[in-house]
Amino acid sequence: MDTILNVAVAGCGYWGPNLIRNFSSLPDCRVKQVCDTDESRLKHMKKLYPSVGTTKQYEDLVNDKELDAIVVATPVHLHHELAKKSLLAGKHTFIEKPMATSSAECEELVTLAEKKKLTLMVGHTFIYSTPVRKIKEIVDSGDIGEIQYISSRRLNLGLFQKDINVTWDLAPHDISIILHFMGKPPVSINCQGKAHVNPNIEDVTNMSLNFGNGGFAIIHSSWLDPNKVREMIIVGSKRMIVYNDNEPLEKIKIYDKRVEAPPHYDTFAEFHYSYHYGDAYIPYLKQVEPLKVETQHFLDCIRKGQKPETNGLEGLRVVQILEASSRSLKNNGAMVEIDLELGKKPVVA
Ligand SMILES: NC(=O)c1ccc[n+]([C@@H]2O[C@H](COP(=O)([O-])OP(=O)(O)OC[C@H]3O[C@@H](n4cnc5c(N)ncnc54)[C@H](O)[C@@H]3O)[C@@H](O)[C@H]2O)c1
Repeated sequence: MDTILNVAVAGCGYWGPNLIRNFSSLPDCRVKQVCDTDESRLKHMKKLYPSVGTTKQYEDLVNDKELDAIVVATPVHLHHELAKKSLLAGKHTFIEKPMATSSAECEELVTLAEKKKLTLMVGHTFIYSTPVRKIKEIVDSGDIGEIQYISSRRLNLGLFQKDINVTWDLAPHDISIILHFMGKPPVSINCQGKAHVNPNIEDVTNMSLNFGNGGFAIIHSSWLDPNKVREMIIVGSKRMIVYNDNEPLEKIKIYDKRVEAPPHYDTFAEFHYSYHYGDAYIPYLKQVEPLKVETQHFLDCIRKGQKPETNGLEGLRVVQILEASSRSLKNNGAMVEIDLELGKKPVVA
């Protein structure tokens, strides 16, 4: 394989240009073509990157023999169709989150990539961010004890999507981060929400994930909030972590706080909670753009033939949880049992 990998990006709306900027900044990569059905977006990209080819026809990417990889950053309902064409044409494929609109679509893509021995990666960006990597390190070291629960809030005003509800838009980030920290899949989930602006598209939802004997998580997603909130609280049996992604520098604070109930007591008078108030600690975090790490990881995996951290199976797990959330929403928040095994391959047909 040539030292320089030729990449094309389909979808130059809000997010695609961030991918184009990052791939363009990598020394071992050339963004050869970008594609969008909207001419004005192509004109804009041509101004920013005069040497990059532009096209309104996705087939031009698929038929380009020099292309090693295609990046799909279009609306979600097109992910499966475009990624499938890319894989069938023998291109390594990167799909933005959420991977597709159903687990059946994701499974088909995973199977196809396996068969063709191609790299398939999903843009669960936060897994490549310094704060998430740092928290994972702290959790795995045992420093905060057992995770008791995680509470996540991802709120802002808009951006309203037409093809997916707010859970499918915002919660893929929280779900991928929570699965990463917990290291195991939930056994049941439920989700409640309301559609205020577009009749059938929920703009505020609250999902809970139950991890059986160990752990519980709550995800609040909203397009109808006056403030931009990006906050996750990880409560361990020994310590607690507050991760505020809106903070410019001090994104993680570790609180040496816990509460213990007495193991045995006979009367209420004997019952005393033991509250522990210790110091708070702010770890140093190196400032690196997560997308830069993510895009470089995609290229490295292509070269080495390795599975990306956020590979197709991880993308599938997130979509399985999103699907279960939609089932629960339709049933007024009823608990939906799920059986996902992280890292386990679906049966290849
Ligand atoms: N990883 C992240 O943090 C992150 C952040 C934002 C968005 N996203 C994801 O990126 C994807 C795109 O989101 P967005 O907010 O940029 O949407 P967007 O609507 O702003 O942009 C999508 C673009 O795709 C173009 N398009 C539509 N059909 C096309 C086709 N057939 N071929 C080529 N281009 C086509 C549209 O004209 C538009 O310019 C979504 O999957 C979204 O979830 C990821």
